[in-house]
Amino acid sequence: MAQVAAALGLGPEQIESALTTASLAPSVHNTQPWRFRVRRDRIELHPDLGYKLAATDPEDRELRLSCGAALFNLRLALQSMGVRPLVSMLPGHDAPGALAVVRRGGTIKIDDEHRSLLDAVPRRRTNRRPFIEATIDPRQRHALARAAELERSWLYVVATREDRAQLKRFVRQAHEIQLGDEDVQTELSAFTGNRPGAIDGVPPASAGIRPEMQDEWAFRDFQGSERHPGKDYESDPLVVVLCSFYDGPLGDLLAGQAMQRVLLTATTHGLSASFLSQPVEVRRVREDLRRSLGGVLVPQTVLRVGFSTPVPATPRRSVADLLLDSNEHVPASGGSHR
Ligand SMILES: Cc1cc2nc3c(=O)[nH]c(=O)nc-3n(C[C@H](O)[C@H](O)[C@H](O)COP(=O)(O)O)c2cc1C
Repeated sequence: MAQVAAALGLGPEQIESALTTASLAPSVHNTQPWRFRVRRDRIELHPDLGYKLAATDPEDRELRLSCGAALFNLRLALQSMGVRPLVSMLPGHDAPGALAVVRRGGTIKIDDEHRSLLDAVPRRRTNRRPFIEATIDPRQRHALARAAELERSWLYVVATREDRAQLKRFVRQAHEIQLGDEDVQTELSAFTGNRPGAIDGVPPASAGIRPEMQDEWAFRDFQGSERHPGKDYESDPLVVVLCSFYDGPLGDLLAGQAMQRVLLTATTHGLSASFLSQPVEVRRVREDLRRSLGGVLVPQTVLRVGFSTPVPATPRRSVADLLLDSNEHVPASGGSHR
């Protein structure tokens, strides 16, 4: 089994702990599509294309968002260990195939804000349960928007009645297109339901309640628990569209870091969040959504935010399974999840 090496002036145990923190990031269907190569002077973050979802995420955009979220966690963990992370995104020849390389950029003492974001990493979960009917304070909304801006992205708050109605239509339209796409449904079922011993995917306990046709927002069916009478979704969640300013891999990586900063900020405010990704996954609908946002912002993910009861953690692969040794190539796209 691969051993974690010392790097960036930190010992193997610290590096292992930093990679564990990185691996607690959210990922599409909990595929955890990231790998790390640890060298004395750097940590490389690579995409694991063996966990590519070819039908749901044909351009690997959500794969990069997920890796961006892991990168944000890694930055926090290194800061807590006194290392100022110097990140090169899409480093090219410097680390072929890597999405990012993190080096030691000097020392740092983590500030209170980053410390509380780091503390939120193991508490953050995707919460698909109905939310409590309660309004989010404008200060909390502001904190979420600021979190996206600090990571060079933008949080579009869906505020007006017209905006909400239009987004609901986009979600429903994309949801129905995906329901009719056998390959998308096969990918979803490969990562849901009862899979004893699974170290990826969404287990039933984290799946929320079964969505129904009459629900206001069309939620994806992760085979959650049957619904008891009166157990319905909240009527008025805060819905936000996390956007990047660029289309393409760099925008995706920045948006992934912003997404994680927004989610962790929500956690520090006692807020829960879940995703409504369908309208950004179906290209045609994504383009309509982009136009509806003014044509400049690039919609990357849609989040529903509110107050809820705690949900259990989803599983993760061990750090040893995430390590690439010096000569190992990252697996090419091969659908190893099937
Ligand atoms: C880019 C991205 C898209 C996602 N899309 C959805 C979605 O459409 N519906 C959903 O319920 N969860 C979605 N998720 C949440 C993942 O399923 C979740 O992060 C994963 O199962 C790990 O669980 P955790 O977030 O509780 O750690 C998405 C996550 C990411 C990073």
